[in-house]
Amino acid sequence: MRGRGLSTLFGLILALLLPVVAFRPAQIPLSDASESDPLDVWLEAEIPYALDGVLNNIGSRGAKATGVYEGVVIASPSKNDPNYFYTWTRDAALTIKCLVDAFAVSNDPRLQQAIRDYIDVQVSLQTVSTPSGDLATGGLGEPKFEADLVAFTGEWGRPQRDGPALRAIAIIAYADWLIEQGHASVVDSFLWPVVRNDLSYVSEYWNTSTYDIWEEVHGSSFFTTAVQHRALVDGAALALQLNRSCPNCLSQAPQILCFLQSFWSPSDAFIHANTNLHHNNNPPRRSGKDSSAILASIHAFNPLAAAACDDPTSFQPCSARALASHKAITDSFRPLYPINQGIPAGHAVAVGRYPEDVYQGGQPWYLCTLAAAQQLYHAVAQWKRLGSLNITAVNLPFFRDIYPSAAAGVYTSPSQTFCQLVEAVETYADGFMRIVQKYSPANGALAEQFSRVTGTPLSAKDLTWSYVALLTASAARAHARGTEQSDTDMSLAGLDTPPSPPPSLPNICAPTSATGPYIPATKISWPKMPCLAPGEETIPVRFNVRVSTIVGEDILVVGSVAALGQWDVRQAVRLSADEYGVVPLWYGVVELRVGREMEYKFIKRRADEDAGDVVWENRLNRELRVEEECLGGMVVNAVWGESE
Ligand code: NOJ
Ligand code: NOJ
Repeated sequence: MRGRGLSTLFGLILALLLPVVAFRPAQIPLSDASESDPLDVWLEAEIPYALDGVLNNIGSRGAKATGVYEGVVIASPSKNDPNYFYTWTRDAALTIKCLVDAFAVSNDPRLQQAIRDYIDVQVSLQTVSTPSGDLATGGLGEPKFEADLVAFTGEWGRPQRDGPALRAIAIIAYADWLIEQGHASVVDSFLWPVVRNDLSYVSEYWNTSTYDIWEEVHGSSFFTTAVQHRALVDGAALALQLNRSCPNCLSQAPQILCFLQSFWSPSDAFIHANTNLHHNNNPPRRSGKDSSAILASIHAFNPLAAAACDDPTSFQPCSARALASHKAITDSFRPLYPINQGIPAGHAVAVGRYPEDVYQGGQPWYLCTLAAAQQLYHAVAQWKRLGSLNITAVNLPFFRDIYPSAAAGVYTSPSQTFCQLVEAVETYADGFMRIVQKYSPANGALAEQFSRVTGTPLSAKDLTWSYVALLTASAARAHARGTEQSDTDMSLAGLDTPPSPPPSLPNICAPTSATGPYIPATKISWPKMPCLAPGEETIPVRFNVRVSTIVGEDILVVGSVAALGQWDVRQAVRLSADEYGVVPLWYGVVELRVGREMEYKFIKRRADEDAGDVVWENRLNRELRVEEECLGGMVVNAVWGESE
């Protein structure tokens, strides 16, 4: 099968480090100083690898998503132990939000295409009748679907009410970008109806029990409530931009924020991740310390609408309560995992979902460890932006760990203490990234978990969410360090604006609800994307071929044009196996002239044999016409020996 699309190893690194003029892969000269830090060196390679990891898992062009409908984000290509070859509303929405933020900086057309394909899919997905209901009766809370968009009807922890909120947040972020580009009418006609259904779902069900994001316990969830609040706030802001209104957003958001306060325990000094649990079908009691609260602080955080860190209603990353929780949660894994033994307080450790976890052996997770870093990077960026940092009784224990002489008080920029405190947090955050670096395999692949004993990767391979977490944590890191510079960067825009006033809470929290409307959205007619930049004559063509090999064997591509060796196997292009895993993938990117037609084949060669000694694919020559489809290049998806 020949697909459209994907291109080079171009990655988010460009997005993070360069002011963007036009989309084009580039060699990025890193300064010597940053090159000498092993974390910087690792990230320089890992960021583009992770972006590939994400795009590989999105149908239909994704190299590891064969047979997956266009725009569907699978959780992982792993089909057994565990089978994650489904699309989860949560994972997919977090993925697209990450791509929207990256796209706003890089203009990489591959990302925009994935975003649009995803939104197209949601139009139909919202109307699928599921075991949770259909569009108007709660179906939006269905947690996962088959990769071909059919409802998943097996037993599962449903509903999971964070999904519609996260999807609204992701689509609104792209809607904001479209509006900035002058496409408000497209947003109004086509995106608003999709978003509105999700906002309706949130307004109706926020006060109704849900399964938590780990799909295990049924009750009230801090993560779910926090992102529901953000969805309605973002939704109301979008409505305003469109000269519409979202009365249900306005009536419910303050109540959600009111309810959100109840998860904080002043006596325990951390956020309890789940409350009101239905204990009849639940596992034994838990401490309540759970990294879903860290995930909540990063995903509910909208830097554009952020209040000051000491806003008493806020759980944003720099808030005292979120920092106290960060300490309580990460500390709970210190004595638990052998790989954390001997690491003193204030130094980063491997972080899992929650200490009582037994799923797949209850191991540390990459995405939880990365979230611990990301929260701190966001906090650093906020303190730098505000020019002040407040140590209170609540966050003092957090600061003491990383800055032993810390004392309550307000510290302002550019005082020495302010700078040292911020730097200590940054160093601590980097430590969590270094843990992930340490326990990642050399090729860069990120699974779901890593062993608490040996640190080797475990559970689902190539977990989309792990790659997303690496990308968002790295973007937050670049932002905190001020190495990301672009006026098209939405997350930086508004840096000069004062923080929003804290929202006022209702006097009494009330379990309210507001219903509807639910109206199926219609097929979207998108504005055209710009094509080749003037003067561009070649485009990156990515060759993906699935072929099982043994150590010592190489796969190459050879063909009729010079860039493919003109049928001389000694000039063939060697493909890379660094994404080989549950999917036996070899790939390579070749710049080819637009309009050229060519024939080619894949060949196999033992690395220790003469370059002329090869095994050819047993089939007719493959044919390729290089066409620019405005997608940042082309992608060819092939299976060794099979016809297209
Ligand atoms: C599968 C879920 O995805 C995972 O989060 C959960 O821990 C296990 N089921 C066990 O319930
Ligand atoms: C299990 C995790 O607990 C859940 O949060 C996630 O959505 C699924 N795996 C798919 O990645």
